[in-house]
Amino acid sequence: MADKLIIFDTTLRDGEQSPGASMTKDEKLRIARQLERLKVDVIEAGFAASSNGDFECVKAIAHAIKDSTICSLARANDRDISRAAEALHGGASTRIHLFLATSALHMEKKLRMTPEQVFEQAKLATRFARNLSGDVEFSPEDGYRSDPDFLCRVLEAVIAEGATTINVPDTVGYAIPELYGKFILDLRTRIPNADKAIWSVHCHNDLGMAVANSLAGVTIGGARQVECTINGLGERAGNCSLEEVVMAVKTRRDYFNLDVAIDTTQILALSRLVAQTTGFVVQPNKAVVGANAFAHASGIHQDGVLKARDTYEIMRAEDVGWATNKIVLGKLSGRNAFKQRLKDLGIEMASEAEINAAFAKFKELADRKSDIFDEDIVALVMDESVTAEHEHYRLLALSQHSETGERPHATVVFAAGELEHHAESDGNGPVDASLKAIESRLQTGAEMLLYSVNAITSGSTESQGEVTVRLQHGGRVVNGVGADPDIVVASAKAYLSALNKLHSKIERVAAQG
Ligand code: KIV
Ligand code: ZN
Repeated sequence: MADKLIIFDTTLRDGEQSPGASMTKDEKLRIARQLERLKVDVIEAGFAASSNGDFECVKAIAHAIKDSTICSLARANDRDISRAAEALHGGASTRIHLFLATSALHMEKKLRMTPEQVFEQAKLATRFARNLSGDVEFSPEDGYRSDPDFLCRVLEAVIAEGATTINVPDTVGYAIPELYGKFILDLRTRIPNADKAIWSVHCHNDLGMAVANSLAGVTIGGARQVECTINGLGERAGNCSLEEVVMAVKTRRDYFNLDVAIDTTQILALSRLVAQTTGFVVQPNKAVVGANAFAHASGIHQDGVLKARDTYEIMRAEDVGWATNKIVLGKLSGRNAFKQRLKDLGIEMASEAEINAAFAKFKELADRKSDIFDEDIVALVMDESVTAEHEHYRLLALSQHSETGERPHATVVFAAGELEHHAESDGNGPVDASLKAIESRLQTGAEMLLYSVNAITSGSTESQGEVTVRLQHGGRVVNGVGADPDIVVASAKAYLSALNKLHSKIERVAAQG
C-alpha cells in the first residue's frame, strides 16, 4: 500500500511574509476555506504571538475550519506557546509549530545563545507545548546549515519530549536536491527514536530548487510531509510551490508511489484567489497555474495535441481546474446564479447585505463588460466597498482628461473616514495625475516601490485591469490591489487600498527576525 504524503500549507504564515503580502482576517478566512476545499491536511494559519491581528486570524480560522488541521507557529518560549494554544483552543484539530534556530550562525549572531542553551530551550519548550497539545511540530530553523551532530542531539531530545512532527527547514534556500535528501536520511538513520515522529521538509526557493529539494527530501530522505505555499508565495524567491509538488506526485505516481488527499481541481481557483488577494501575480510560464501552462503556441505542438493530447501534455488542464474557467455569468444573470457561483468558488459572504452589495457591483460590471469570468467575481468580492470591513479610504469618483500634447489632469473624490476630499493634480499620465491628486491631499510621504497592471482575464481589451501598488512607509511595506475595466480607476483603488493597509497599522514580529 502507498504511503500518504501530508500536505502542509503555509501560505497564510510563511507566504504572508512576502513584502506587502499581509492579509486581513476576512481575506485569510476566505483562503483558509478554499484550502479546506482543496483538502489540504494542515493549514498554518499564522503566528499567534506575533500580533493581536495574527492571534485573531488563527482563532477565527481554527473555529471555521473542520476538515484540515489548523496550526499556529510559535517561538520556543512559554508565552508564544500559550498564545498559540489559546488561539487554537476549541478547534476541531489543531497543532502547535515550534521553531528555534540551530545553526551556529543563527545561534551566535541572532539568538546570542550557546548550543547548550538552545538544546535546553528546545526540550523545555517541546515539553511545555506537549502539555497543551497532542500535536506538536518542531522546526530547527536554518536546520540544513546546522551541524548534523548537534541537530541529531536536539531532534532526539525533542522527540523524546513528545514532538510528533520534525520539520527540517532549508531556511535560506541553500540546499541541493541530492544533498538535502541525504541530509534528512542521515538524521533519520542516526536518531534512535526517529520513527516516533513524522518527518517533514520545508524548502525556500532562493536557488530555484525548493520543489526539487522537497521531493528529494521525500524520495531519498523518507519525509512524509511537505510544507509549501500556493503559487510558491513567500519571502525573497518564495517557498516550495504546493501545486507543483502535488502535481509532480500525482502525475508521476509510478515513481513516487505516494497518495495525496488534494482535490486538484481546486488548484487554479485558489491560485487566482491568492494572487488577487496579495497582489503577487503569477508569471505566465509558471508550471501548472501560469496562463501559458497548457497553451500550445507552436504549430507542431498544436497539431500534435489535436491528434492525441498526450503527445505534448502530461497533465490534463481540467484536472487542475482550467476547464471550469469559462464565461460564467453575464448581464442577464440573476441574484441566485450569482450566489451559486460564489458558493462554487468557495466564497462565503458574511451576510445577505454583503451579497447584495456584491451583486450590485456585479450588475454594474456586467453593464460595462459582457462576459464575467470567475476572476472578475473574485476581484469584485475583494473590492473593499462590498466587504463588511469598512475601510478608512474609499474612492467615490474620478475624472481625468488626457489629450495628445496636453499634460493630463485628474480630479479624485475620496472618503477618509467620515470626511470627503476633492483633490486635483496634473501628472505625466492620467494614472500619475490621479495618484498625485490623492497624495497631494493626504501627504502620506509613502514611497512607491512597485506599480503593475495586469489584465484579470486574458484575450481581450474588455478585460478588467488589475493594478498592484506596493508602498513603503515607516519601515512597513504593503501591497494594495484594485480592479476595474478603467485602469485609471483601478490604479486609484489600488493606491487607496495600500493606504488602508498602512492605516490599519498591523504590527507583527517576524518569524525569522
Ligand atoms: O524557513 C523557516 O525556517 C521557517 C521556520 C519558521 C519553520 O519558516
Ligand atoms: Zn520558511
